[in-house]
Amino acid sequence: MRGKTAMDGRGPSRADEARAVLMGNDEGGRWTRPSPRLYPHLWLWDSCFIAIGLAHFDVPRARQELRSALEAQWPDGLLPHIRFNPREEGYFPGPDVWRSPEGRLSSAITQPPMPAIALMELHRRHPDTGFLEEVFEPVAAYHEYLSLHRGRDLLFIIHPWESGLDNSPLYDDALLRVPVDRALVLRRRDDSIVDPAQRPSKRFYEKYIALVNSFAGKDHAIDAIAQTSPFLIQDVLFNALWCEANRCLGVLAEALGREGRPFFEQSRRTRDAMRREMCRDGLYHPKDLREGRLIEGLACTLIAPLFAGVASEQEADKAASVALRDLHLRHGICSYDPRAPQFDPVCYWRGPVWVNINWMAVRGLQRYGHIDEAESLRRHTLELIDENGFFEYFDPHSGAGCGGESFSWTAALYLDLLDPAATPLARGPV
Ligand code: GLC
Repeated sequence: MRGKTAMDGRGPSRADEARAVLMGNDEGGRWTRPSPRLYPHLWLWDSCFIAIGLAHFDVPRARQELRSALEAQWPDGLLPHIRFNPREEGYFPGPDVWRSPEGRLSSAITQPPMPAIALMELHRRHPDTGFLEEVFEPVAAYHEYLSLHRGRDLLFIIHPWESGLDNSPLYDDALLRVPVDRALVLRRRDDSIVDPAQRPSKRFYEKYIALVNSFAGKDHAIDAIAQTSPFLIQDVLFNALWCEANRCLGVLAEALGREGRPFFEQSRRTRDAMRREMCRDGLYHPKDLREGRLIEGLACTLIAPLFAGVASEQEADKAASVALRDLHLRHGICSYDPRAPQFDPVCYWRGPVWVNINWMAVRGLQRYGHIDEAESLRRHTLELIDENGFFEYFDPHSGAGCGGESFSWTAALYLDLLDPAATPLARGPV
């Protein structure tokens, strides 16, 4: 069923435009490009957010979005963060840089584990056991990959791109350890599509590509990479989503008459490990495993333990007040502390407001009963998009759109935020 796209007498509504953005970024009815020129392939966690939005007006297409992300799965269960479209050429870094085994047209790293969460969203709105049966195994195989190769209770990431928050200042120090090959040639296009001031700098890209080259040099053997690579971090958002994803997979397993208990137990073990290892004074911090210390700094990831039910009630109260007081300027949660020297209001994850983070914060606040704050953030986020359009991220002072235009997850989550019936998947801590 296609949703309504017709214009009313006053021109298209923003919801119509949101649907039009998603349909405009559609790739042959199979997946959705995050932004047509800047990101012309499939990105894993983008497709998860996109499926949540598509479920509001085109359920078969929402299911197809997840299917397409899962089709890129590696034999060991890895879900790569990019599935390349063979018809698109010129993206950097493309398959020739990644050199994935057996010529696979994908990157060789992953992204925050959103698939089980998106599947849970789809299932609770439009239950369909046939579809669930079809996709359950690949999602469970992905979880098995993560628990076997990435640490089980607390997972580590091997590249800033795996965090989803690429150039967040959280990873600056760890990146200092990454050696750069002076002969490296970058063939970037992103900084000619978008104002370079809004994109990660050359210095960061050199480090990103140096890491990719070193992984390719090890044939992407994850255990060898984990032993020696200079960048190894237990990230807050990644682990919080790991906790929530296992809870969701437990619920979905039971919906299929399977054992949910192993997934619930994994979810609680991750919650406990996060509380034990990553929490200081009520706030959660990533851990740099090469240095064996928590990374200081206030970032938007502090809302993730609310979204995922990792925080205790007391920690949630604290995180909510810090997020809404210290990270919130006018338009939502800044990706990084506006008082810190590293803050930059227009540069990607170093300050701008992102709609997926506001969406998670709304869900997290709702989950812990901060209903008024959630409602206010929900309305602010919708207004931000109403006034500025479907941009990739927004300047937290002016609300001006930055980065890619017609950005799919901004449109998808706009549709979800518009629906007052969209509520968190669970209440309170796990
Ligand atoms: C950027 C973002 C990442 C996203 C990708 C595609 O790399 O940091 O989170 O998945 O773009 O939109």
